[in-house]
Amino acid sequence: MTRERSGSAIIEKSLEVLSISDRRESASIVPNSDYINKEPVEISIGAIDLEKNCHILYTFLVRISIYPDSLFGYFYMNIHVLVPRLPKESTDSAVASNIQLLQDAATHRGHTLSVIATEDCTFTFGKKPSILVNNKKPRFKLMLTQPGFLTKNVEVHASLIRQFELSGIRCVNSFQSIVKAKNKIRMTQKLSKHGIPMPKTYIVHSSMHLSEIMSSIGSFPVILKSVVGSLGIGVAIVESKQGLKSVVEMMLADDHSTPLMIQGYVRESRGKDIRVFVVGGKIVAAMERIARKRDEFRSNFSLGGKVKVASLSAKEKRLALKAAEALGLEIAGVDIIRSNAGPQILEVNSNPGMKGITQATGIDVAGAVIDYIVKRAKRIK
Ligand SMILES: Nc1ncnc2c1ncn2[C@@H]1O[C@H](COP(=O)(O)OP(=O)(O)O)[C@@H](O)[C@H]1O
Ligand SMILES: [Mg+2]
Repeated sequence: MTRERSGSAIIEKSLEVLSISDRRESASIVPNSDYINKEPVEISIGAIDLEKNCHILYTFLVRISIYPDSLFGYFYMNIHVLVPRLPKESTDSAVASNIQLLQDAATHRGHTLSVIATEDCTFTFGKKPSILVNNKKPRFKLMLTQPGFLTKNVEVHASLIRQFELSGIRCVNSFQSIVKAKNKIRMTQKLSKHGIPMPKTYIVHSSMHLSEIMSSIGSFPVILKSVVGSLGIGVAIVESKQGLKSVVEMMLADDHSTPLMIQGYVRESRGKDIRVFVVGGKIVAAMERIARKRDEFRSNFSLGGKVKVASLSAKEKRLALKAAEALGLEIAGVDIIRSNAGPQILEVNSNPGMKGITQATGIDVAGAVIDYIVKRAKRIK
């Protein structure tokens, strides 16, 4: 029988260990650039010797003399992130807190994060479409997008992302996937086409056939959703037939109004749903969200929903990954509701908030995003 050897490492002074074995001479360390060419630092590495069943502590005094330039582009990267506009001062805005978490995760790994705002960008159309960032041609190949823009005129706002793509820059998430996810009609079409279970859903352009819809859904209350809402703002619960008719008529009265989504209410979820954070086809974290008050059915974190870690069934995991893939989202926040008929997908977000899920699970989701971006960038020739 071969015995597996394992080691654990405790590194002081925030040095980062890339690989380590239980043999002293093969330990390899990539230091934080703060320590490069500075005074010697003492590092201690703790290991467990499984054969002798004891702890070993190696202490080294090392002067780190690697030039960061030689590591830049290999280990370290300048990650570009596009935000709709510079995050406002307020730290509780979802985009601002995402940027902060991404910034921290990038710095911790020795990377830098450059934020590009809409105002910095100019489209040019010469022989082919191109983009200027602060009047310069961007020299990077991949960009992380944080499409937190308001949901009105999504296509117009998202054209900025498309312009980067047309200039040869890969965007994560991509224009196509964002536009699909921000439009609840397109999202529902995609999910349904892929056979992904969801609550019974109708999209109406008038109040003409509400009786038939109601007999199919079965009972009140029902959920009414704007097809371009997010953060729980465009979602309402309607208790009666009369209420539904008058609200639908009112909301569709205007020539510029958009169709409305009517959905069966999953009563048994009792104000709870599951948010699954997917990065590059893998589940990074999952949390349960619980509506703040007894009479609130929306569990959105932005509406004060409480959050705690969730464990997913194999079916829920499969469903979350399938939903993200159906929309082509490399980074996705998949919302699952636990119904009597099994798990169902409520929606898939293209710009999931990171603060709530990081707090709830203790998992560094921003770190997972950064690692994915670095890995993805290395694959581009
Ligand atoms: N059919 C439903 N049954 C029960 N609760 C629902 C239903 N649809 C939405 N909810 C609740 O409302 C919240 C917001 O709905 P969602 O479709 O995710 O819209 P948004 O894009 O605004 O977040 C969900 O997180 C969930 O708690
Ligand atoms: Mg939602």
